[in-house]
Amino acid sequence: MRARSLVIALTALLVLLLSSFAAHALTQASAQQNTESRVTAVIHGKVAAPIELGVASFAKATTDSWNQHKSRRDFLRTGGMSLAALLLCTGGLLKGRSLSATADYPGPTYPSMQYPCPDYPFKLGVASGDPAPDGVVLWTRLAPDPLHEGGMAQQHVPVRWELSSDENFSTIVRRGAVLATPEFAHAVHVELEGLEPGRYYWYRFKAGNYISPVGRTKTAPAFNSQVKSMSFAFASCQNWEAGYYPAYRWMAQQDLDLVFHLGDYIYQWAPMSGVVRHCNDGGLKTLSDYRNRHALYKTDPDLQAAHAAHPWVVTWDNHDGWSNYATLCEDGQKNAARYALRVAYQAYYEHMPLRSLSRPQGPNWRLYRRINYGNLASFSVLDTRTYRTLPCSYGTDSRPSAALEEACTMTGAEQERWLLRALSSPSTRWNVIAQQGMMAQVNQGTGSDEAYNLDAWDGYVAQRKRILDCVRECGTPNPVVISGDMHTSWVSDLKADFDDPSSPTIGAEFVGTSISSNCPTSTIETYKSALGKNNPHVKYFDTRKGGYVRCELTPKQWRSDLQVADSIEDRYSPVRTIASFAVEAGHPGVQGGLTLQGMTSSGRSQAHRKKHHKEKHHGNGQSAAGGGSHPSG
Ligand SMILES: [Fe+2]
Repeated sequence: MRARSLVIALTALLVLLLSSFAAHALTQASAQQNTESRVTAVIHGKVAAPIELGVASFAKATTDSWNQHKSRRDFLRTGGMSLAALLLCTGGLLKGRSLSATADYPGPTYPSMQYPCPDYPFKLGVASGDPAPDGVVLWTRLAPDPLHEGGMAQQHVPVRWELSSDENFSTIVRRGAVLATPEFAHAVHVELEGLEPGRYYWYRFKAGNYISPVGRTKTAPAFNSQVKSMSFAFASCQNWEAGYYPAYRWMAQQDLDLVFHLGDYIYQWAPMSGVVRHCNDGGLKTLSDYRNRHALYKTDPDLQAAHAAHPWVVTWDNHDGWSNYATLCEDGQKNAARYALRVAYQAYYEHMPLRSLSRPQGPNWRLYRRINYGNLASFSVLDTRTYRTLPCSYGTDSRPSAALEEACTMTGAEQERWLLRALSSPSTRWNVIAQQGMMAQVNQGTGSDEAYNLDAWDGYVAQRKRILDCVRECGTPNPVVISGDMHTSWVSDLKADFDDPSSPTIGAEFVGTSISSNCPTSTIETYKSALGKNNPHVKYFDTRKGGYVRCELTPKQWRSDLQVADSIEDRYSPVRTIASFAVEAGHPGVQGGLTLQGMTSSGRSQAHRKKHHKEKHHGNGQSAAGGGSHPSG
């Protein structure tokens, strides 16, 4: 009898062990299957495309290996969340340091906290941003049904994350867990601290058995450290309907330290006809509408690849919220505009790798901030929309007296003081202002008449003069402004007095063309006829869209390469350098164009090299390309 009982007990133990191993094997198989489902889900059937990109290739190589590097202790704790972690995670935020590699996932399992959705949740990709010498923000959002409010149940969901010092995740330097909450659309922001300066890290997330693509990020160099060189890109204006993003496809393959996005990440317009890609929503009014529009943009595989490849520093422009801020003072639209901006702030934060500093508190948020890169460069990132004085004007007109008033401001008083403090006590070789609308004056009048874009700095003349005067009087070393908004490329000198060509040149401005947004043909024609007459400080103008600017900095030189796609109607379009410019340290302004490089992302370059060589030597770089029927901005 005793022997029979022993056999039964041993059999039961054997069954239990086999079940455990089978369950483990199923879990791993499921994770692998889900990794595959990511590929098809994200890129809408074009399986091969993202795999061609460098980032996606190491994503493929590593996502299957999460479980392989888990210890037995970790395995037993799968799905567990500590009470301490839950308390820390309120609001979807977590300081990375609080859950280190030695204290991850302790505590009991909460069955109700398991990932409740049977579909892949990482369809919006991953991102990182706002690098500091000791940390960076990691981002993702759980959205198994991205275009329909995400598709998540109204409950908190634990998301685990890992940070590795190598792309194969063989050396995990941090791991932790964070709660994705419905209040923030199940977005996750992990603010890491205590990392090493100036080095690459790789990261990924896990919800349930689903593993995210892998992202690569890089911390900034130590404060005041000697930095011999850096490279970055800046981009803006990516109307999804207007075209594909070959520029991002190209950017994702570049060796960059960081990327700046200067606004119009989304366009809040109602769907339009005659466009390259069609969005079928009913226009943006509610928080849910803005979330769905952000999600639509984020489903683009090339945008995802660019986010996964580099840390981004983002700031916003009007189309991220509300086209015309002037309506904020019109009784008929005031309430609608204010409500739209409030929910737009929220949706923007939810979809960007921003620090908790930038998390909206109702109608308030703080987007302006500074990114330092050792002793080489500081980037003052402005918000020129939230605090601008009203009534502002929209469109092109002769300059109203309000633009000349001291109180007329694009940044508000507090942000201006913050900026002027930095410009008057610089500690870096290059001092960069990263912002939205063009800073250099552009008189669009063709004769003695004057016409200015009052939505840009030409509508805020007194404040522009205060900033440029500060730079001149303080001797701020090597000031450069990088801007967007124009949907065309501009390279200009910044003058003490734009109406006097003999006045001192204070700095240089590079305005990047749009990633995809159109500039109306009539506007382009106006620019062409005005340039060279009233605007001698404008050194270069090009109408092509579908690009960004790549910059390389050393202590001696700033170099900007204007990268533009042949066509935004072709996702796989070649991208080439259409022009290059330099600024020599110690000599304010643009010192002339460099030789055109003819560099392309494909072998189809020879004919275009000849074409652009011809433009360089027989024209001023203006192109008849571009145009379209949509409003600019
Ligand atoms: Fe724009």
